Amino acid sequence: MDAAHFRATFPVLERIAYLNAGTCGPLPAVAHQAVLDAWRFSAEQGRGASDYFGQMMPLFDALRERYAGLLHAPVAEVALTTGTSAGCGAVVAGLELGPGDEILTADDEHPGLTGPLIAAREQRGVTVRGVPLAEIPGAVTDTTRLIACSHVSWHSGAVAPIAEIVAAARQRDIPVLLDGAQGVGAIDVDVTRLGVDFYAGSGQKWLCGPVGCGMLWIADAYNGRVASPAPGYGGLVDTAAGLDSALHRDARRHDVAPHGLATFAGAVAAFDVLAEHGFPALHERATGLAAKLADALRDAGCDVVGRGDSTLVSWTVPGGDAEAEAQRDRLQEHGVVIRNLPGAGRLRASVGAWNDEDDLDRLLAALA
Ligand SMILES: Cc1ncc(COP(=O)(O)O)c(C=O)c1O
Repeated sequence: MDAAHFRATFPVLERIAYLNAGTCGPLPAVAHQAVLDAWRFSAEQGRGASDYFGQMMPLFDALRERYAGLLHAPVAEVALTTGTSAGCGAVVAGLELGPGDEILTADDEHPGLTGPLIAAREQRGVTVRGVPLAEIPGAVTDTTRLIACSHVSWHSGAVAPIAEIVAAARQRDIPVLLDGAQGVGAIDVDVTRLGVDFYAGSGQKWLCGPVGCGMLWIADAYNGRVASPAPGYGGLVDTAAGLDSALHRDARRHDVAPHGLATFAGAVAAFDVLAEHGFPALHERATGLAAKLADALRDAGCDVVGRGDSTLVSWTVPGGDAEAEAQRDRLQEHGVVIRNLPGAGRLRASVGAWNDEDDLDRLLAALA
């Protein structure tokens, strides 16, 4: 890939060593333009004009097709959501779970996943048990009814032992939900090869789209078996049929209601910028740069947290949360954007294929 050409499509990188795609990816200039065009059309032509929906619905379909292709999944198995949290919530809320049932998860999951799990515990009497991510395969019990964990840990960048998790789950016919917020777009995701049942992901992180887009893949075996308590109108087979309509059986019953031309125009434009350079090349470059950064931080004496072949690099800051936050702010003053991980006294850099060695050097220099 032409790394310099690719990098030039992200305006934020002209000034800033932007290393926080784990929160939100850098927005490509063409996605910015697509969003502006959508809003100009909205203001000048009116959002009720037939052309507004005439433009939005094909983009909605196009985005679903693109996400499905990236996940190596049939289009009918992919729902469009507002993000990873929404996808995790749809699965946890949609499965028949109640008192006596246990959900097994990791003990350092993101609130986007813990939120739905805590709701299941508080509102439906489900037991939720957290263990270290690497220990999930050995922690499955006879009461476990769902395994829900990260593909890539947002805290450490560790990759979950998926093959072992799936093997343990299959022994008891338990479904597996992966929180793919730090997976899809960052590393290769082939849902069939992974062998899991559900994969929830974000469009605004490693896919560089606007906030408010994401995906949920549901394996064919669960087609029609995950309840959708609050479907959007696109979830109906025939919106003109009133109460005579049925819900789609496929993933469309979990679609968000199409909530704005700008979001889908921006998401498709951003996706196409990435796809043009080829996702395998982007994954390889990003994980390679991240590994380089991890080595350099170690060489500089930083306490890098055990990680996997991912795009996240975390390190523990002596002095805890307050010092980590202060360092994050100091780095930002030097034009380096990373995030702190409250509760763990850590800093985290997210390294994308749009970054270069100079960004890494700027981070290292600012830390020194
Ligand atoms: C592991 C993980 N899960 C879920 C989320 C929430 O994602 P979204 O904002 O797309 O719902 C994040 C966001 O940082 C995350 O890192």
